[in-house]
Amino acid sequence: MTKQRRIAVMASGGDGAGMNACLYYLTKQLERLNFEVFGIEGGYDGLINNQFVKLTSDELIHSINRGGCVIRAGRSARYLTEEGRKIAAKNAKKMAVECVVVIGGNGSFRGMLDGKPYGLTTIGIPATIDNDIFYTDYSLGFDSARNANISLIKALCMSTYSQNKIPVVEIMGRDCGKLTLATAIGCGADYCIIKEDSVDLKKLTTKIAKTIKTKGDALIVAAEKNINLEGFADLLKEKTGRDVKVFINGYAQRGADASGFDRELAAKLAFECSNLVNNKEYFNVVGVKNGQAFHLPVEEALKEPNNTDLGLYNMLYSE
Ligand code: F6P
Repeated sequence: MTKQRRIAVMASGGDGAGMNACLYYLTKQLERLNFEVFGIEGGYDGLINNQFVKLTSDELIHSINRGGCVIRAGRSARYLTEEGRKIAAKNAKKMAVECVVVIGGNGSFRGMLDGKPYGLTTIGIPATIDNDIFYTDYSLGFDSARNANISLIKALCMSTYSQNKIPVVEIMGRDCGKLTLATAIGCGADYCIIKEDSVDLKKLTTKIAKTIKTKGDALIVAAEKNINLEGFADLLKEKTGRDVKVFINGYAQRGADASGFDRELAAKLAFECSNLVNNKEYFNVVGVKNGQAFHLPVEEALKEPNNTDLGLYNMLYSE
């Protein structure tokens, strides 16, 4: 039997559903290619701390029904330092792994470039509920987070409707409105507030008040890190005389069950990645366009900012 080759895989940044399915399909395919696979617990920090664990597809199969990430994801302040990167590269070398697969978002991909001068060879798989990586149609976790939001908001509205309250729901996404817009559309929200469009709060509250008058209630979905939602709720309370409640879906969006779409996406991305690993095509990242997996150099992947497609937003929500 030929000697087994060795690789490691980590999840970096925020966790998200679909990461576990990705670990499973990647490990399964690499085992077929005669690789031994190690997980690195907790992202770049785990690499600095030497936290390697052996992964097998037989064990990972049970994790595909879990949200979040079984080998833990994480951000690393130490990897931002030269010393941290040196240790990370040294540990990968000591473990004799040919490369480290980095499952994560833009920041994690920048980490791939940061490790390059120190000899840390990497390949990237896009995973972030924000879906804010421009070159790929989808990143792992986005669809599951959207579905989680739809379920959470459905239950929430059953109660707010019964109580005559007005819900304002905060959605994650960092600086990108994609998850908020997809959630708003999925829930039939009356209003959607995202950073990509400026908002005149006075005008908006007047419009919402009119909706409440004619329709009886209103559902408002808003992106995080944009307007002050508590202040906005107070304004709306004043204008309508109704009890306005702010709800934060928070980490439930990342810990949710992986959707069927994300599981299939995980398999596509993992298979594309396993070919790169096998052929030693390092410093590439994989993605999906029109349902087809592809790859490109990580430098290219980071070249452009993300753009939220405002087509549906303009039709449904802009002034
Ligand atoms: O990037 C994923 C994400 O969940 C963003 O939507 C959010 O702004 C951020 O991570 C939250 O970061 P943390 O996990 O550090 O609270």
